[in-house]
Amino acid sequence: MISPDCPIALMDSGVGGLPYLAAARRLLPAERFVYLADRSGFPYGTKSPEAIRDIVLDRVARIVSAHGPKALVIACNTASQAALGAVRAANPGLAVVGTVPAVKPAAERTRSGVIGIMATARAVQDPYLDELVARFAKGITVLREGPQDLVQFVEHRLFSATGSERRAAVEPAVVRLLEGGADEIVIACTHFLHVSDDIAVLAGRGVEVVDSRDGVARRLKAVLAERRLLARQGAATRETGRDLFLLTGEEPFEDEYQLFATSFGMRSPAALGGRPT
Ligand code: DGL
Repeated sequence: MISPDCPIALMDSGVGGLPYLAAARRLLPAERFVYLADRSGFPYGTKSPEAIRDIVLDRVARIVSAHGPKALVIACNTASQAALGAVRAANPGLAVVGTVPAVKPAAERTRSGVIGIMATARAVQDPYLDELVARFAKGITVLREGPQDLVQFVEHRLFSATGSERRAAVEPAVVRLLEGGADEIVIACTHFLHVSDDIAVLAGRGVEVVDSRDGVARRLKAVLAERRLLARQGAATRETGRDLFLLTGEEPFEDEYQLFATSFGMRSPAALGGRPT
């Protein structure tokens, strides 16, 4: 039975959705969260839309049967583009919130008339992005970069890399966008949020780096409010380790995941469980 006491689930192919978890917690401090990093499906950005849809449907079915969430946030642009409709159709009672690249605000704010989008290799060529651009960025030049190696870097090297290695990892894509005249950079792959400070430093003054974290958190709150599913204020005081960090695939889990769990105030990673469908 879905009730205000149920947790909110977030999922991504890996650690990309964690900044979305942080934003949702800030807005909804009384809620309990379950976060899935789909380590065995990672990366999504090199797969076909059909393969991504099947993987995401399987992971959602397993989260639903193991944790009975009241809402699900697909904190991944690539998965939202490929699977949002299918996830909603397969889970009619569940409030599902997707992630949409912040093309609209970037197009509204650009002064140079050029915006840059950083997404996965899959997402930059998805018709969904074409539609978003046609709808919200008429008359604007939209540059696209799909640095899939940066997704790998964030998932596996974020904690071991030096500052200069981080800057070198973001540099090629950002420099191309700047050379093209972009004064707005849209972070349209959630993984890249972990290096957004490096992107902003490299981009320099006069260039704005935008993402959809706060918009997604506000949408989640609105959807829960509409369904009268918000947790009662003060229902649960926030203590470190209350939220679950789940991973797919076999243990042992790589050390990085423990570091991500610690830095986002969660318990040690645990296996998602449930049988793949
Ligand atoms: N974090 C994901 C996104 O927002 C996908 C990264 C990947 O698995 O390629 O698109």
